[in-house]
Amino acid sequence: MNDPHLLIDIHDGIGWITVNRPVQLNALNAEILHALRAAMESLGANAEVRVVVLTGAGEKAFIAGADIRAMQAMDAEAARAFCRLGHACMSNIAALPKPVIAMVNGFALGGGLETALACDWIVAVEHAQFGLPEVTLGLFPGFGGTQRLRHAVGKARAMELIFTGRRLTAREAHAWGLVNTVVPAAELRNTVLDVARAIMANSPAAIRLAKRALLQGLNMGLSDGLHYEEEQFPKCFERDDCVEGLTAFVEKRRPVFTGK
Ligand code: CAA
Repeated sequence: MNDPHLLIDIHDGIGWITVNRPVQLNALNAEILHALRAAMESLGANAEVRVVVLTGAGEKAFIAGADIRAMQAMDAEAARAFCRLGHACMSNIAALPKPVIAMVNGFALGGGLETALACDWIVAVEHAQFGLPEVTLGLFPGFGGTQRLRHAVGKARAMELIFTGRRLTAREAHAWGLVNTVVPAAELRNTVLDVARAIMANSPAAIRLAKRALLQGLNMGLSDGLHYEEEQFPKCFERDDCVEGLTAFVEKRRPVFTGK
């Protein structure tokens, strides 16, 4: 957790994680991926943290991909280990039992877009650019991009981005449904805070269960997904948050959720 290339800050229920390698446009090497995994585990277990925000240092890049210089030295075995580590890290982000917002402050390319895709929500600055340029390097996306991009935008558009390596502007990414909101740089942080606060007004227990149902459903057909929802929905009724939410509505007051 003491990697200088990963900053962690906790404020008012939000865990801020900043990839801090701005000179290399926050490119991800193995050390940062390990630190990111550890940060996710730590913030996931910290009851004080209700929402996690992931961003990159500087104004130019969110994350410009996996570290190309590090990959230059890899053989196939090392590449397999790097791919596994990337997958494990992205899965840690996706499986976090709390919402993760990607605050995309610039380039989100290759492993950077794949990181944003592992998050639950993307708020992007107007000058951000999104793409999977791996084929321009003789590679293809190896941190989950071939799978998560298809889930996010469908097969035709995923093929288009992966085969051409072209970059989308933030507005195009928004029109594709890849990004939730696009804002001017001066509004980026406050917009993310608004999103986080809107989420934090609601039941953490319900959000945890909803996130799991949504993500599990991506691996299932509709009928299996509905069956899973049917199994999970009653679990809300075993939580204090559900009792509180229903009671508060009937008593015409704001609920006070504990996440239990
Ligand atoms: N890895 C390592 N270093 C990187 C990097 C990366 N992914 N992206 C940028 N950098 C470094 C550059 O090498 C440069 O360092 P030096 O000054 O020491 O050469 C520094 O960051 C600044 O970059 P540029 O001078 O290139 O900045 P620019 O404004 O001219 O261009 C850019 C910005 C378009 C993002 C360009 O840097 C670029 O194309 N970067 C690579 C993007 C990319 O191909 N990403 C995919 C990587 S592969 C991957 O992610 C595999 C996977 O799925 C697991």
